Amino acid sequence: MEIIRTTAWMKQIARDARVKERILGLVPTMGALHEGHLSLVREAQKQCSPVVVSIFVNPAQFGPNEDFKKYPRTFDADLAALEDLRVDYVFAPPPEEIYPPGFRTAVAVEGLGDVLEERVRPGHFRGVTTVVLKLFEIAQPRSAFFGRKDAQQARIIRQMAVDLNLDAEIVVCPIVREADGLALSSRNAYLKGAERQAATALYRSLDAARDEIAKGERDAAHLIATMRGVLDAEPGVALDYAEIIDGDTFEPVVSLRKTCYALVAARVGATRLIDNALIEQQGDSFRVNV
Ligand code: PAJ
Repeated sequence: MEIIRTTAWMKQIARDARVKERILGLVPTMGALHEGHLSLVREAQKQCSPVVVSIFVNPAQFGPNEDFKKYPRTFDADLAALEDLRVDYVFAPPPEEIYPPGFRTAVAVEGLGDVLEERVRPGHFRGVTTVVLKLFEIAQPRSAFFGRKDAQQARIIRQMAVDLNLDAEIVVCPIVREADGLALSSRNAYLKGAERQAATALYRSLDAARDEIAKGERDAAHLIATMRGVLDAEPGVALDYAEIIDGDTFEPVVSLRKTCYALVAARVGATRLIDNALIEQQGDSFRVNV
């Protein structure tokens, strides 16, 4: 496994891979790797060779009062995990390689990013799309792998890829969860004591919505009330939003349709967590993937 620190060297490797007609796969991460990230790496390895995992805690996607400084950084453990998986390249640039002095450009997807996460975290997706476009330009992936855990992020990146005629195919992979349903997240490391158990309320709220849907419920307001009920019942959990939205437009729906997401975001103590379920119509019924 080779660790690459400069954009110039990463570009060189990407060019070589192109010339040799190899199928380069990219897994962008901010490190503090867990099984969720590693599931993306394994999927990338099924489809691509070589596989590049980027580790870059992107300052541009953190708000001024967010956790950029204390975001978990576990570089040595990350490298060991990637080495175990026999990853080909780790691209881990210092901040000034990505944002040299004088950097002034941003890319933003309009319209999908001003709801939900963006409303709570203004500027967040602009930071994400800017760094992801840069990573694509630097590593030139044929395919890039993202988690459905961040459903709005995946939707926005897919839109950027279409709108800007990017070569990369965007692959979105399922959510990896703990045994009790909590979606794996680097931020779970912040949870203290009783907060860990309380954090399962996000998953439980989606599970409750799934039960209602299985019983035939189709009304979004009813499903949202069900999710809110679970989250409000958990002391120490402060709801940011619980929504049912159209999987394409990310706008609220009145009743379930073809492809929707149930999305929840909440603060558990000082830790902000998000989770979602994908709801897909199959004939007369709906399948809920948590
Ligand atoms: P990060 O939070 O490190 O996540 C990297 C990738 O792992 C994202 O695509 C995310 O959706 C996926 N992921 C996280 N938890 C997951 C889980 N439990 N199951 C499956 N996939 C999971 O998302 C980012 O970094 C950044 O915004 C980034 C895209 C790297 C741009 O800076």
